[in-house]
Amino acid sequence: MAYNLLKGKKGIVFGALNEQSIAWKVAERVHEEGAEIVLTNAPIALRMGTINTLAEKTGAKVISADATSLEDLENLFKETMEILGGKVDFVLHSIGMSPNVRKGLDYDALNYGYYHKTLDISAFSLHKVLSTARKMDAINEWGSVVALSYVAAQRTFAGYNDMADAKAILESIARSFGYMYGRSKHIRINTVSQSPTQTTAGSGVSGFDKLEDFSDRMSPLGNATADECADYCITLFSDLTRKVTMQNLFHDGGFSSMGMSYRAIEQYEKSFKDCP
Ligand SMILES: NC(=O)c1ccc[n+]([C@@H]2O[C@H](COP(=O)([O-])OP(=O)(O)OC[C@H]3O[C@@H](n4cnc5c(N)ncnc54)[C@H](O)[C@@H]3O)[C@@H](O)[C@H]2O)c1
Repeated sequence: MAYNLLKGKKGIVFGALNEQSIAWKVAERVHEEGAEIVLTNAPIALRMGTINTLAEKTGAKVISADATSLEDLENLFKETMEILGGKVDFVLHSIGMSPNVRKGLDYDALNYGYYHKTLDISAFSLHKVLSTARKMDAINEWGSVVALSYVAAQRTFAGYNDMADAKAILESIARSFGYMYGRSKHIRINTVSQSPTQTTAGSGVSGFDKLEDFSDRMSPLGNATADECADYCITLFSDLTRKVTMQNLFHDGGFSSMGMSYRAIEQYEKSFKDCP
């Protein structure tokens, strides 16, 4: 159901790789709510993914940009303002990748070159997007920026590896830049901490199925889906949340406030029975 919450608004959506991507669902929802958007992703993702199907569906233009490259980001904002006929009102940062996770290297045996890449792609890119936008004055006053995070920023999850460090930095950048950009332009910056979700990035984490199941059993409302995450992002881009900024907002069915649940206990009881 659409509410026309974003009628007349313009935005950039980073990170739609395929139909499973959280950014894909957000792009569909912002379009339904009346926004005009530009889609962007890294050159390799444009070749490997299916973003053009989404572009057709949402009437969006696609601009290639590696979010770690300041040059690409400058070009992205310049072209976006030409295409959309002015500054944007919202930006979705839905970007994450760890070469250490991909190569199966454990946290105590990280490759430091890869580690730097993880942080550059998954965290510093938010700083680069924001500083480029600010330098070019590319976001309208009272605009909204949302980046996707995970609760591993606050607590340790086996297998989440160096992405946990990236998420902690990402959330800190949202706070620090939220202050700077809020003061000067009333632009709000928040992170949404989402439940485990079956996507290309998500399922790359070792033991993902178990993590997803555990998280669902622990959450009174169950895991939040990518579609539900998109619904939440819509509210954050709308004028209904103009004073929400510098927050990490949990969108996780209650997981982050739980310690133990009956559904998880039931599971333990089963495994204890199996033990000699
Ligand atoms: N899936 C989950 O379980 C989960 C949970 C919480 C948070 N998140 C976060 O949600 C965000 C989106 O991930 P997703 O789950 O939709 O997976 P996804 O794989 O569909 O999206 C990740 C995106 O990052 C893009 N990307 C990678 N390197 C890039 C670069 N250099 N420049 C520009 N884009 C680049 C990829 O092309 C891809 O589109 C990530 O920040 C992820 O950490 C995911």
